[in-house]
This record gives sequence, structure tokens and C-alpha cells, in this order.
Amino acid sequence: MKQSDEIWWRHGVFYQIYPRSFQDSNADGVGDIRGIIDRLPYLQALGIDAIWLSPVFPSPMADFGYDIADYTGIDPLFGMMADFDDLMSAAHASGFKVILDLVPNHTSDQHPWFVESRGSRDNARRDWYIWHEPAADGGPPNNWLSEFGGSSWTFDAATSQYYYHAFLAQQPDLNWRNPAVRHAIHDVMRFWLGKGVDGFRVDVIWHLIKDAEFRDNPPNPHFREGRPPHEKILTRYSTDQPEVHEVIAEMRRVIDEFDDRVLIGEIYLPLHRLVAYYGNDLGGAHLPFNFALLSTLWSARSIEKIIADYEAALPAGAWPNWVLGNHDRPRVASRVGPDQARVAAMLLLTLRGTPTFYYGDEIGMHQVAIAPERVRDPFEKNVPGIGVGRDGCRTPMQWDATAHGGFSRAMPWLPLPDDFVHENVVNLEADARSILSLYKALITLRRKLLPLRSGDYVPIAAQGDLLLYRRQSEGQAVVIALNLGDQPVSIASGAAGLNGDILLSTFLDREAEKVDGTLDLRGNEGVMIGV
Ligand code: GLC
Repeated sequence: MKQSDEIWWRHGVFYQIYPRSFQDSNADGVGDIRGIIDRLPYLQALGIDAIWLSPVFPSPMADFGYDIADYTGIDPLFGMMADFDDLMSAAHASGFKVILDLVPNHTSDQHPWFVESRGSRDNARRDWYIWHEPAADGGPPNNWLSEFGGSSWTFDAATSQYYYHAFLAQQPDLNWRNPAVRHAIHDVMRFWLGKGVDGFRVDVIWHLIKDAEFRDNPPNPHFREGRPPHEKILTRYSTDQPEVHEVIAEMRRVIDEFDDRVLIGEIYLPLHRLVAYYGNDLGGAHLPFNFALLSTLWSARSIEKIIADYEAALPAGAWPNWVLGNHDRPRVASRVGPDQARVAAMLLLTLRGTPTFYYGDEIGMHQVAIAPERVRDPFEKNVPGIGVGRDGCRTPMQWDATAHGGFSRAMPWLPLPDDFVHENVVNLEADARSILSLYKALITLRRKLLPLRSGDYVPIAAQGDLLLYRRQSEGQAVVIALNLGDQPVSIASGAAGLNGDILLSTFLDREAEKVDGTLDLRGNEGVMIGV
């Protein structure tokens, strides 16, 4: 049995790449696998340990790859299987783990399985998807809503039944109550694991099983105008069903057929429901993604409470994790502002548990305004005008000040913001006090200091905008003091146990300063103190 600290997915730093937007190598305006290979040296200098790739499989791209038409191929837009194999070897040679996106809840409507399934009511694959008779009035079987707008049921005139889709009509949900579906996806997992892939991030894993009776969902008493329409009903019967845990346990057994792989679940649920996804006897997901930082009010007291609630809810033996951004949520630099984005980086990389951040967050990329004619996201197209669009967090990586930010020689699929001429990797690498330099320093310290990688989390009482905690292990400790406000803060450091040496400030200008008696923080400053 490996010691906790030797397990790579516990101590490693995870980095999400949205392949369409990372680096284009063939001048078609869309990022690709060769592009990622070309940028591995950048990722090495950044210091991350594992890369998770959003889907690169053949897809009509109705939902930009989350509608898969072939689970074991590579979409020509991204390259060929040979390119993927080259990426695997190059990444492993550089010491990176590679995580793929597994999208088992639904396929594309162009997937041969669905084409067969919709062919006739007695097709052998009919029961691979969720087909239902119309309601008495001919309408959809129940009141379930698609996350991307409208009913989640689409009528198929040829066979006079409805099929269910939690997302787009082009993304029919697979029927996970059917063992044949389970086996087919298990074989997909084995295909990639056999190629050396180090694990999966499983898309909408809490959606896999739906109520066997398809009961109507209850209305959401807290629905607010201006929120997406699917929030009008709760998802009591359409997600997070008890039987899902058996499905995940089976996936985990497939993962465990191979050495040292990881199973990560995408799960948007309150913390007390989330932790159930570690599974009985921890035989579920290794890391049920913890998205609490994506939606919290950005204040010291609410973050302190989230950490405490999460730490308290974790089952024995469960390893925590924290996520700062992804391809579905507004950029952290826009959510919390550019100054607090540095504080957020220190928070993410000093909390207990595996940190995941999103490409471009390390250079402070912000949400990019997308002109109406350039909108690509189907969510925004179906539910316009209330700000649900995800294009703004999916814009091309800003590598340098040349045309299209060095991302592509052609017009990129999404625009870059004007400020890319300053806010780009080349410029920020040259600036010893940039946010990029901060990320590197944080990752370096995390690698160096055992308390940060695997030490206990010990809260220290604080007030106002100050968030204080200690990470400690085997006689070594560091204290993290984060000022979540924009005004300076001073506290007596002796009694709180903060006397020591500043290891890092988010401003990158106080290293080796001593804290003795008083700790002074500037507005929007975080410091790490070796105590
Ligand atoms: C997940 C993905 C999101 C996608 C949805 C449907 O939430 O992260 O991008 O649209 O699933 O597959």
C-alpha cells in the first residue's frame, strides 16, 4: 500500500486544457493535439503534474465535443490517433499524467448506437437509450427540463416515442439501467487505459441514473427570474439517484484493473451530497470534483465556512480536492476581480487536497465579451441574453503579442480580448511579479513543502476580511493569511502563532521578511509564513 503522499493524484496539481483553445498547429483557427505537444515545455515550466483534456473524440460538435459520435477515435479537427499516441509519450516522458474526459451519460445523436436505437422500436439497441411513450395528451412523458432550454424529451415521429436528453436534443442520454450499456462504456475505458491514459474526468456523473418511474420533478421554490429556465424545477428524480453509486463502483472496478489510475467525477451538488460520491468503503470516485469555490460569495467568512463544512463532511479516508475554474463557469479573474485572482491562486494551492485550475487562469485571463454574431455556445443560443454563455471562458490562450496571440495563424474560432497584447505568456514570464510568476512560485512551494501537499488543515480564528489557516505535518508548519478585502489589515501575530518568515506574498515582494509581533497585509494580499 502506498503512503498517501506517494499517490500522484493526491499531491499533484491538475491543469485543465480545453483543446479547441490551447494551441492551433495547422492554421484552422481551432486548437489541436499537436499544439498541446508543442506547449508541453510551457506546462513543465509552470510546474503542473497532470493535464485533463476536454473531449477530443469524433463529434458533430453540437456541444463542442461533449456530443461524442465515436468513443475510441480522435476527431480530425484535433488530429489523428497517431498524434494522440505522440502526446501520450511526450507527456509521460515529461513527467505528466494525462486524464481524458469520459462522457458516458449521453452520446451524439450521430453515434451509430443511437442511429440504430432510433431505427425501430424492436431494434436490439432500442433499450440503450431512454425511450418513453407520450403523455396522455401526446406531450412529453414528464416535466423534466433540458439544461440547455426546453423539455428534455424530443419526439421521434418515425417510432412515435420520446427520447430523453438532459442536454441538447443532439445529446440523447444512454440508458445506464441496461447492463449492455455499462459493458460497452467499460470497454471504452479499458481501450484508453490500455493506451496508458492515467484516468478519467467523468462528465455529469451524477446524472447517469434517472428515476425508474420517471416521476415529475417538483417545482423549485427558490427560482429567480433571470436564472436559466431549467432551474424552475428541481432535479429530484432526474439526477443523484441512489442506484448511481453502484454504477460508479463498477466504473471504479474497471479503473482498478489498471495500476495507479484515477477516477474523477463532475458533480454539482451541495457538499453533503457530493461526498457520497466517494462511495461505500471509498470504492467510488477518487475525486468527486469540489466546485464550492466556483459559486461561493468571495468573502473570508463564507470561504472559511465552506472549508470547514467540506473538511467535516469528508468520509474517513477520503481525499479532498478544490477546483478554481473550468470551461463551463465564468473565469475566476472576472468572478473575483484581477486583484483577488492572486489571492484565489494562493488559496487553491495551499488548501488541503488536489488543486485543479483551468488553462489561462495562471495568466489572469478574464471573461471575454462575445459579440452576438460570434456566439458559438449552444446554451447561449438557446437561452440568450441572461449571461449563461460559456464562450467567454473558452477563448484562445494568450501566448504572445503577435496576431491572434500566438494561438493560431488563422482567425480563431473565438475572439481574443484586446488586452492580450499585454496579458500574455511571454510578457508575464518576463515579469518576476506577474500572476504567472506567482502561480509558479506557489506550485514550487507546494512541491517542496510537505505540509502543503499532505499536511492537516487547521483553521485559525480571524475576523473581517482575513482568512487564516495553518497547514502542518510532522513538526513542520506553514500559516496562510489571505486578505479577501481591498483595505490593509494588521493583526497581532504572536498569540495567533503567526511569527516566522514570509515564504511568499501574492505581490512577490516580501520573501525573507520576518513576522514578529504584527502581521501587516496590504489590501488584496495573501502571504505564506513558515512558522
Ligand atoms: C458537462 C460539461 C459541459 C457540457 C455538459 C453536457 O457539464 O462540462 O461542458 O455541456 O456536461 O455534456
